[in-house]
Amino acid sequence: MANVLALTGSLRARSYNLAALKAAQELMPEGMKMTIADYAQVPLYNQDVQDQGIPAAVTQLREAILAADGLLIASPEYNFSVSGVLKNAIDWLSRVSPQPFKDKPVAILSVTAGPVGGARSQYELRKILGCLDALVLLKPEVFIGACMTRFDADLKLTDQATRKILGDQMVAFAAWMDRLAKR
Ligand SMILES: Cc1cc2nc3c(=O)[nH]c(=O)nc-3n(C[C@H](O)[C@H](O)[C@H](O)COP(=O)(O)O)c2cc1C
Repeated sequence: MANVLALTGSLRARSYNLAALKAAQELMPEGMKMTIADYAQVPLYNQDVQDQGIPAAVTQLREAILAADGLLIASPEYNFSVSGVLKNAIDWLSRVSPQPFKDKPVAILSVTAGPVGGARSQYELRKILGCLDALVLLKPEVFIGACMTRFDADLKLTDQATRKILGDQMVAFAAWMDRLAKR
């Protein structure tokens, strides 16, 4: 049984990235379970705040990541880069000990309105996670562009080709977590 924690880089209720995480949850192979983290209470990073003590929301998120077998991140692309809320949370987590990304199996997907599907931001995210010694699944890459055409009005992922690649990624992620657990 692999327990996956999911993070979305968008906090809005009707987020397509959140919807993609829910679709990934449906498409996961048997034995894989996912919980979506709520980290909206993480404050803006400020070293003065850190010096007063790590905020509870950061500690809570760190504990959830440490306890998970793997981390699934779905994020929109903002101005060709990683969303600010996600980067902010990562910056906080990079300052706590133990640093929870170290050796953590991670899979990434991105959903955007634009046609490129967040590829530019995904490579930035891979670079950031590399800095933190996370072990990011390489393939299949999942870039979901033109999101309005791939989800219905209830935010269900209806595009069959996208469902297939997302399901394939979940299978590969299960194998990735298994492989790393046996190291
Ligand atoms: C601040 C901001 C910057 C954006 N920059 C990009 C971008 O660089 N590339 C892109 O494809 N879409 C961009 N978008 C559009 C997002 O892809 C779109 O709003 C998407 O639905 C956001 O994901 P969400 O539905 O999970 O919130 C941007 C949106 C915002 C709010």
